[in-house]
Amino acid sequence: MKKIILTGDRPTGKLHLGHYVGSLKRRVELQNSGEYEKIFIMIADAQALTDNADNPDKIRDNIIEVALDYLSCGLDPEKSTLFIQSQLPELAELSFYYMNLVTVSRLQRNPTVKSEIQQRNFETSIPVGFFTYPISQASDITAFRATTVPVGEDQLPMLEQAREIVRKFNSTYGETLVEPEALIPENEVCSRLPGTDGHAKMSKSLGNCIYLSDTEEDVKKKVMSMFTDPNHLKITDPGSLEGNTVFTYLDAFCTDNHFAKYLPEYNNLDELKAHYQRGGLGDVKVKRFLNAVLEDELAPIRARRKELEKDIPAVYEILKKGSIKAREEAAKTLADVKAAMRINYFDDEELIKAQQLKYNS
Ligand code: TRP
Repeated sequence: MKKIILTGDRPTGKLHLGHYVGSLKRRVELQNSGEYEKIFIMIADAQALTDNADNPDKIRDNIIEVALDYLSCGLDPEKSTLFIQSQLPELAELSFYYMNLVTVSRLQRNPTVKSEIQQRNFETSIPVGFFTYPISQASDITAFRATTVPVGEDQLPMLEQAREIVRKFNSTYGETLVEPEALIPENEVCSRLPGTDGHAKMSKSLGNCIYLSDTEEDVKKKVMSMFTDPNHLKITDPGSLEGNTVFTYLDAFCTDNHFAKYLPEYNNLDELKAHYQRGGLGDVKVKRFLNAVLEDELAPIRARRKELEKDIPAVYEILKKGSIKAREEAAKTLADVKAAMRINYFDDEELIKAQQLKYNS
């Protein structure tokens, strides 16, 4: 079977290193692998509005940020269709029909929705649109007949819900939709990169992110003030790797080549870790190394972003073209869905003929 990717992000802020190792970098690799027939990358503005209804400007302003981040990381509009969710009314239409196939109690049990309701203090006043966003996400995925959905682990309950909707639809109306599979990061560190303060997750509200659009100086400052082992006071003290953010980042980013290039006295990360645990290795040296490793990754992204920023209309044009192309694809699926649901009255000559006969024989 031909493989198709759909994935996306909510445009609520600039993308950071957590997004990069957790999904963006992989997407670019998948894009360039040649294994996928079609790739759709969506800026999920409609979904972002489900919990930002009173702040549409935030979403509006972040569309371009996310698009610039995508393109500067190497997503190529010739190979991947980049588009904006709200520009495809077909997605809303699909959701309207899928809603009949999902129960309120099933949505209430969705672990991601549950924890997000808590995080947002929505307990007593959950917007219906927010509550039902897993259904809209199923529309996003199925509209493109996606076989493969590269996402972070936190999105697994969304995929499960989408698969259930597909099965329910197909068993009720006949085989129409494709059951998608999640593709999660292979590497556990990449699944959930901690914040620079050692907090479990990078998040804008905690101010512990390194952004793809940060300057070289910003990155250096953030790296040099990163959380390490609070008991590692003197260089000669033995250091601990447990919860030591600098080493977690090295696990996510560094390769043996980086040692040859920047710290030739070690062959690999294991040797560096052993020295740190023994004592005699200072945090500053490790942080400088991490900074060099990160710069290897970030400098080319930053340079591409600078170029792209010079022609913002061209970036919107890419999104516009992508949205038109994506819409054509979604419209085909919607037509199949409506035919399967037998609500394609005007295309159904048999129906019209049969009714004519009924009244005139
Ligand atoms: N919920 C995803 C996030 O918060 C964004 C998203 C919307 C998405 N629709 C999707 C991801 C469909 C994968 C497939 O990051």
